[in-house]
Amino acid sequence: MISEKLKKARDFEAHYGPFIQDRNRPAYHLTPTIGWMNDPNGFSLYKGEYHLFYQYHPYDTKWGPMHWGHVKTKDFIHWERLPAAMAPDMDYDRNGCFSGSAIELDDGRQLLVYTGVKAVREENGELREHQTQCVAVGDGLNYEKYEENPVITADDLPAGGSPFDFRDPKIWREGGTFYLVVGNRPADGSGSILMYESADGLRWKYKGVLAACHNQFGRMWECPDFFELNGKYVLLTSPQEMTAIGLEFHAGNGNLCLIGEFDREKCHLVRENVQAIDYGLDFYAPQTLLTPDGRRVMIGWMQNWETSNCQSSSMRCFGQMTVPRELSLKDGRLYQNPVRELKACRSYQILYRNVLLTGMTTLQNVRGRVVDMTVNIRPASLNAMYSWFKINVAGDGEHMTTIRYKPECNTIRIDRTRCGFPHDIVNVRDFVVRPRGGEIKLRILLDKYSMELFVNDGEQAATTVIYTDVSADAISFESMGSVIMDVEKYDLIID
Ligand code: FRU
Repeated sequence: MISEKLKKARDFEAHYGPFIQDRNRPAYHLTPTIGWMNDPNGFSLYKGEYHLFYQYHPYDTKWGPMHWGHVKTKDFIHWERLPAAMAPDMDYDRNGCFSGSAIELDDGRQLLVYTGVKAVREENGELREHQTQCVAVGDGLNYEKYEENPVITADDLPAGGSPFDFRDPKIWREGGTFYLVVGNRPADGSGSILMYESADGLRWKYKGVLAACHNQFGRMWECPDFFELNGKYVLLTSPQEMTAIGLEFHAGNGNLCLIGEFDREKCHLVRENVQAIDYGLDFYAPQTLLTPDGRRVMIGWMQNWETSNCQSSSMRCFGQMTVPRELSLKDGRLYQNPVRELKACRSYQILYRNVLLTGMTTLQNVRGRVVDMTVNIRPASLNAMYSWFKINVAGDGEHMTTIRYKPECNTIRIDRTRCGFPHDIVNVRDFVVRPRGGEIKLRILLDKYSMELFVNDGEQAATTVIYTDVSADAISFESMGSVIMDVEKYDLIID
């Protein structure tokens, strides 16, 4: 039985979704069926297909009462749209079905775990949103919310834990036991990640504090994900109210990766390294799954909360997901590269080797807006290091988005100041890369409204949304001092 609220959402998206023609959407980055999208939810394998849900407000391009949108894919590139999975239609989630995750059960059903939000008038007259963890079970299309919801409440919090900031459960299973991690605000007012355990996915027991912020990396930690990777353990989370730390973490809503060993006894992550996940402008709330062939694949919301209110008025949908990325650990650092499935979409190879560049140039047939391009740069002479090297994309004389590398300080700058957006939003991000004597490898994924940069085979990623008319398809290369470069460029054709 589906509720009136869910039926209304499904009817609405079925009616208005088709008005957004595919040619107006990005070519291979997911957008919502209609309206607003934020965090990826429930990214998981179910009956041999990858399902993805998302924070969804179908009725507007602004955030509103949260539903769960739903799509699935076999290859991470082609997404099939499914009807909305959940609406805020119960008393305990009447103010929103917030972020969560999904898993396949032994009996073939799919379990969704999410945060139910309910605003309650406190004794002092203040209206406050209480957050609890809830579940729903379904068949990959329709979901029934559990009659004993919520399944984790304020009663299951450790002392001092806030019932108002308690959200975004990520579930996984080891043998016959289910676990989940969830964000919470402890007594110090910052963030922590709590862990719970269950035999059936329905009845949960508190285990301990996996990691705590102690006001060091932002405050409230949202959207955790925890998994083993190449023999270590990785915790991804998205902190709110981050203050910038050098060029590693920017201010605002950031993203954070903690790497270390997992002390099961104490239910604690012993930190060995802390880094940003993505160094660009638009990346938040990533979630991962494990593929049958053993790959840990991550997808993130390709947006920045701070700038998400600045939209162009003609849009009927807002929000994109990143391209799914394969994760690995090398030398204690998180590496990420686009899923290998994307290579099957590469067409029309253009190859240049050993191009000597001093000043600015364009290369014949190197242009386009739906592009996968890798550029290798090295100094033309070991005695004369170049000052900087730039790639300008999405250009048309007036507009462009730029990647600049400066070997002297080993920094990359991405800059979309001239991408054509009519709001004064944050447009520039600098980050430090590992020195390699002026040699650097840049892989750029361009889509109609985004650029994702992967540096040195995935050692760092930097993602930014752009708002340039798709007719601006020029790509140029520029240097101060001489460099030698190789360019390998493909158009991405998504049928
Ligand atoms: C993160 C977040 C989550 C919450 C959801 C609400 O972007 O704030 O913590 O569940 O968005 O839409």
